[in-house]
Amino acid sequence: MVGEQKIRAGIVGLATYVPERVLTNSDLQKMVDTSDEWIVARTGIRERRVAAPEEATSDLAYQASVKALDDAGVKPDEIDLIITATNTPDMIFPATACLLQDRLGAKNAGAFDLLAGCTGFIYAVSVASQFIEAGNASTVLVVGSEVLTKIMNWQDRNTCVLFGDGAGAVVIRRVPGDRGILSSALGADGSGAYHLYMPGGGSRHPISAEVIEQGLQFTRMNGREVFKFAVRAMEEGSAKVLQRAGLSVSDIDFLIPHQANIRIIEHAAKKMNLPMDRVAVNVDRYGNTSTASIPLALEESLNSGKIKDGDIVIMVGFGAGLTWAGMLMKWYDYRR
Ligand code: ACO
Repeated sequence: MVGEQKIRAGIVGLATYVPERVLTNSDLQKMVDTSDEWIVARTGIRERRVAAPEEATSDLAYQASVKALDDAGVKPDEIDLIITATNTPDMIFPATACLLQDRLGAKNAGAFDLLAGCTGFIYAVSVASQFIEAGNASTVLVVGSEVLTKIMNWQDRNTCVLFGDGAGAVVIRRVPGDRGILSSALGADGSGAYHLYMPGGGSRHPISAEVIEQGLQFTRMNGREVFKFAVRAMEEGSAKVLQRAGLSVSDIDFLIPHQANIRIIEHAAKKMNLPMDRVAVNVDRYGNTSTASIPLALEESLNSGKIKDGDIVIMVGFGAGLTWAGMLMKWYDYRR
């Protein structure tokens, strides 16, 4: 607190990066027993991006970060902390955030990775805001970056049609007046851990010929269970952040939902009484990019002028863990 004024963190820079290669539903039709009609009707996805063989998560993260720092007018040595939210780190260790820190030349920054499934981006921004509000950091770089296409079994139609690659970075700083992050809420239900997971490559099933033979290096998902959890999580997550901020559904101007499935997004919009022109949707073009999905959706909405200074914006998501999170912001138009 400074006098009676609460220190509030907010986004002061934002950028994204997606790999060039586009994989359409009709491309997938040639790879697995699926159809464009099925994928569009059940998920809303039409195409997704695929990283080049030599591209790893830190490469995508770097591209997004350089542009986000530029958008914020921040130099790398001003960064106090880098948090990379990812499910697909370059290596199990060291943290991808450290690789990024070195490449950016952010020599004054601490750096760590945060693993919370697709919810990782909101988790990471929430952690960043605590550092700012406690006075332990002035500038935090948060990056959601994924190359999910490298942990897919391209013979499993239940999963391979859903995911794509991408990165989004935000710079978090103290923002003026009553703008910034109003509330956040994080949740988890680890009893659903095995509804969405990658069994191999960790200490439970270290890499071996047997692990690879069993395909344990690939993502496994019980789609129906994740779907049920997601619908509940979007509702409960938004109710909780609204209650924490002392606001109600009618106060929301714009919804940035995790982009996993258009049906889940439409359900959440209906619950919030929001017409779809006040909801960010890009799942059709990128599929589920996990931790990159919310910054990708936010950037599009900002660039198209749909979010204005002072708007109440809600971000809400769910993912492996199972986890969920919500965040409410009073938008600060740092680009003015
Ligand atoms: N093409 C054609 N048919 C398919 C495909 C496909 N790609 N995938 C599954 N099917 C079949 C199934 O085998 C099933 O056939 P059956 O009835 O003969 O068994 C049928 O389609 C219906 O399957 P359902 O699972 O009931 O389909 P549903 O309507 O639930 O949609 C989906 C499946 C899209 C996976 C949905 O459940 C979903 O979106 N779940 C949430 C997934 C999600 O969001 N995951 C990411 C979480 S975030 C993170 O942390 C990464």
